[in-house]
This record gives sequence, structure tokens and C-alpha cells, in this order.
Amino acid sequence: MVACTTNITAALYALGGLFTQVNASWDGCDALRLTNSAKTFVPGQPVYDYEVENFWSNHQIMAPACVFRPTSAEDVAAALLVNEVTSTEFAVRGGGHMGIRGANSIDGGPLLVMSNLTTLELADDHKTVWVGPGLDWGEVYSYLGQFGLGTTGGRLSPVGVPGLLLGGGISFHGNQHGWAADNVVEYEIVLYTGQVVKVTKDVRADLFWALKGGSNNFGIVTGFRLKTFPSGDVYAGVYSVTDIPALLEAIANYSAFNTDPLSHMVPQVVAVDEQTTVGAVILYYDSNEDAEPECFRPFWDLPNVGNTFSKTTLSRFADETGQLVVPGINDMFIAGTTVGKTYDSLLKGIQVSWEAFEAELPKLFAILPAADRQLISMDWQPLGDLWLAGSQKANPAGNALGFEPEEKGTYLAWAEVVEWRGEEHSEAVYDWIKTTTWKIGNATQEAGVYDAFHYMGDAAGFQEIYDGYGAANKHKLLSVSRKYDPLRLLQRLWPGGFKLGL
Ligand SMILES: Cc1cc2nc3c(=O)[nH]c(=O)nc-3n(C[C@H](O)[C@H](O)[C@H](O)COP(=O)(O)OP(=O)(O)OC[C@H]3O[C@@H](n4cnc5c(N)ncnc54)[C@H](O)[C@@H]3O)c2cc1C
Ligand SMILES: *[C@@H]1O[C@H](CO)[C@@H](O)[C@H](O)[C@H]1NC(C)=O
Ligand SMILES: *[C@@H]1O[C@H](CO)[C@@H](O)[C@H](O)[C@H]1NC(C)=O
Ligand SMILES: *[C@@H]1O[C@H](CO)[C@@H](O)[C@H](O)[C@H]1NC(C)=O
Repeated sequence: MVACTTNITAALYALGGLFTQVNASWDGCDALRLTNSAKTFVPGQPVYDYEVENFWSNHQIMAPACVFRPTSAEDVAAALLVNEVTSTEFAVRGGGHMGIRGANSIDGGPLLVMSNLTTLELADDHKTVWVGPGLDWGEVYSYLGQFGLGTTGGRLSPVGVPGLLLGGGISFHGNQHGWAADNVVEYEIVLYTGQVVKVTKDVRADLFWALKGGSNNFGIVTGFRLKTFPSGDVYAGVYSVTDIPALLEAIANYSAFNTDPLSHMVPQVVAVDEQTTVGAVILYYDSNEDAEPECFRPFWDLPNVGNTFSKTTLSRFADETGQLVVPGINDMFIAGTTVGKTYDSLLKGIQVSWEAFEAELPKLFAILPAADRQLISMDWQPLGDLWLAGSQKANPAGNALGFEPEEKGTYLAWAEVVEWRGEEHSEAVYDWIKTTTWKIGNATQEAGVYDAFHYMGDAAGFQEIYDGYGAANKHKLLSVSRKYDPLRLLQRLWPGGFKLGL
């Protein structure tokens, strides 16, 4: 290990002597303070206190030794090299919405926050926009909205830009444009060498492919150039129902039969208490001309207890769904997938996963008093032929996700959502989550509808992501990461998140 570290240090010094002033016996925070004190913050300083708590879920909050807040790609490069030269483990945070402890913060090392990388720059032809990794989707949509434009991003405003684009990206527009990642036409990324380079379908094509699903294994992305599209008024809202068996059928129906690429929906069943379950379906229709789109007929046919479907905009609606995010509590998402080629097999996947989840709820209610429950629910995201067609059209170069509905049938990427108050419940809740998730996995396997795909954006830390992309893609991701990080520094010194391994 010592010899190895020395070699790395020597290699990095040899990169141009940029950091010859850094003493290898310092740690990363010492070196950052001494080389860039204006952007390095330590405990007790307001910026440190603000940034270390700026996460989606309480359980993500850790105790970094310092916060580094770069304002340019060059600052990012300098910080990366400083950590490499001093062999310091560090963490990187964009919007902080990956709700996994240690994925985006760290105890005792530097936390690099993207907060001040907030470029928003529309191209002259209005066809693309440069977006910085410090932005959230609400900021992106409200900027583009002034020009009558939109882009593929998160469905809730507070979600961060970089994590979503690097993990795939499920947007309201996926049935037209595929994964959000498919709509990134250029990346600016800081490689382990400290070089700030451009990545497009023609320049570093292997990296272009790998960044679409391969997360934080290749470098720190300092800019994304995203395609835009015209976006004015749309119809969107939440349709709420109480007949859960009928709702599960409607979800299967839409998943099996929808052919309208303008539509998107997120159906969720919320377990309110021991007696009450409510269905809430987010519906989005990318047109200002249809107040009751036919593709949503399976839902319209259900009696509702609430319906806010009405004319709005992408920006307004994402702000509205963003209200669902409650600060200062514990939140977890857990992911899985069922697949099916027919209505019956899709319905089976939804029913079996819901029943396995529902059967465990009494145990959760027993450990979590009603007053400490914020949201307990399950949702199912259909991803099928339209999604694939959108993906291939937006990005003929392909992505790393291994998404194969033509072979496997429509995916129903499900997510459990568990949100609670009070640290004292956390250990018991984590145990419940693991057991329940295995039970869902086993039940869907026995029913013959299981798939190993786990959407990264919804996955828990104990879940495996890259196996679900298929063996060939996993292998290719690993070889691309070895090519761009031959010393494996980004694996060893940046441990958080979904890493490919050495
Ligand atoms: C309430 C909520 C709603 C959501 N809605 C959606 C949705 O509609 N669609 C969807 O697809 N997903 C959704 N997600 C999932 C979301 O896409 C992921 O949580 C994603 O990681 C968030 O991005 P972030 O920048 O906030 O993540 P962060 O937590 O900041 O980062 C995630 C990972 O990426 C790494 N990283 C951060 N910045 C960089 C960078 N510049 N370069 C390289 N690596 C970096 C981090 O180290 C970390 O490992 C939602 C999540 C939440 C909590
Ligand atoms: C950096 O980001 C913080 C937090 O969003 C903000 O308050 C501050 O004004 C920003 N500073 C610069 C230089 O952009
Ligand atoms: C799907 O929904 C439509 C519209 O409600 C309905 O006419 C049709 O019978 C449903 N199909 C199945 C298989 O449930
Ligand atoms: C099935 O359950 C076992 C634990 O009982 C677990 O280890 C395994 O991962 C589960 N399978 C799936 C697909 O979740």
C-alpha cells in the first residue's frame, strides 16, 4: 500500500508539477485550506454548517473534515489532484438526493459540493442548454420555461442534476425522448489526471456511453449539454383513488396498452395506516390540447377521491410535486423490477410485489408509531417499447443501462418509499426494509416476473446495480473505468456511491 501510494504520488507530480507545493504528509483538507482557502470551509463556519446538512434525508448527514466549494472546473481539478497526492478519501455531492449514507458525504475527509457550478446557458439555436452540476431540476425548468422550452430531467424540482443524469434519468418525457441521460450530447468532465476534457458521441465515445448509467466511476462532471424541446402549457395532475385492486389493474392496463408517447404516469399506493390505503397517480400529458387524454382511460374509469389534472407547465408542476419532499426527516427508496409481455404478466408483477410489501406492513406499523410515519408507499414505473424507441432516437450511440424491453417485455421498475421521523426507529426500519425487499424479490422470482434491473435513482445502498445492466455492459463499464482511471484512484479515494470496483 505504501509503495503503491508513493507511485501514485510520483505519477501525479509528473503530470506537470502543478502540485509540487503540496506536501504529501498533509491530508486533503490541510492541503485544500493552504492552496484554496477562500473555497474551503471547516466546522463552525456557516458555509460548512449549511453544506453538510444540505441533503434529502437526515441519515445522509455525516461529519466531513472540511467542505470544498469549487466555482470552476479548474477548482474541481485542483481539489481532485490534492486529494490524490495526499491519498485522502473524499466525497462529491450534487443535489444530494441519492438517499444513501456515504454516497455523497463522508466522515473525516473533504466533501466537494457542486453548489457553485450553476451554469445555465442556452445555445444560440435554442436546441441545447449547458447545465451545471450544482443545479436542481426546478432551476433548470424555470430558466428554460422563459424561452418556451423544456428538457428531460427529474419530476420533482428539488432533485439534483448530476446524479440523475449519471444514473439514467426518468422524466415526464421518457416515452418521447428515452432516458434523461440519452439527451446529454456533451459532457465536461475532470479526469483523475486533473485534465478537464470534453466527451461527445465522437470524442471519447466509450466514455460517452459509460456516463449514461455508469454514475460516478469516471471523473467529476462539471457540465452537461442537454437537448431541449418546445414546452409550453401541458396537462398534469394527481388522480387519487381508493379501490386499490382496480388501480393495480389500471396500472397494468396502461403499462400493457399505452401507445401515446406524449403520456407519462407514476402510480403510487400509499399505506396511510393499518386500515387505509390510497392510490395517487401522477399523470402528465405533454400537450395543451387534451383535458382528458384517452391513454389515461383506465384511470378515468376509476371513481376518484381527488383529481388535480389541469393545465399547467413543466416548471410549475415539478415545483408542485416537489412539495412532497419534507425536509429534516429520514427517507429511503428501495428499487426492483418485474417484467412482462402481456397484460396478465404485468398485472401479476404489480400484484405480487404489492402483496409481498403489504403483507409486511403490520410489522412496520408495530415498530413505527403513527406520529413518526411520514410516507410509506410503493410505486411502479412502466418502461417499455415507447421508452426504448425514444432512447434510440435521442441517442443512437446507446447507453450502459442494458434496457431490453423488446426481449424481456415492459419493465415495471418498482420502488418502496419509507419516510419516518426519529433516529430511534432507524435500525428497526432498516431491518424491516431489507427483509421486505428480499420477500418482494423472492415472490416476484417465484411468479416468474423478476428482473435483476434496479433503477439506480431508486436503489438502496445494499442493492446491486450493475449486474442488472447485463454481464456484457457491466464488463464494458469496468474496462472503460480502468482505461480512464488506470491507477483506480477514483475507486479507492472516492468510495461513495455505486462503484464498479477495482
Ligand atoms: C424525492 C426524490 C425524487 C426523485 N425523482 C426522480 C425522478 O423523477 N427521476 C429520476 O430519474 N430520479 C429521481 N430521483 C432519483 C435521483 O435521480 C437520484 O437520487 C440522483 O442521484 C439525484 O441526483 P443528485 O445530484 O441530487 O445526487 P447526489 O446525491 O448529489 O449524487 C448522486 C451520486 O452521484 C455522484 N455525483 C454527484 N455529482 C457528481 C458529479 N458532478 N460528477 C460525478 N459524480 C457526481 C455522487 O458522488 C453520488 O454518488 C429522485 C430522488 C428523490 C430523493
Ligand atoms: C455558492 O452557493 C451558495 C449556496 O447555494 C450561495 O449562497 C452562494 O451565493 C454561491 N456563491 C457563488 C460565488 O456563486
Ligand atoms: C383496459 O382499459 C380500457 C379502458 O378502461 C378497457 O376498455 C379495457 O377493457 C381494459 N383492458 C383490460 C384487459 O382490462
Ligand atoms: C431471496 O431472499 C434471500 C434471503 O432470504 C435473499 O438473500 C435474496 O437476495 C432474495 N432474492 C431476491 C431476488 O431478492
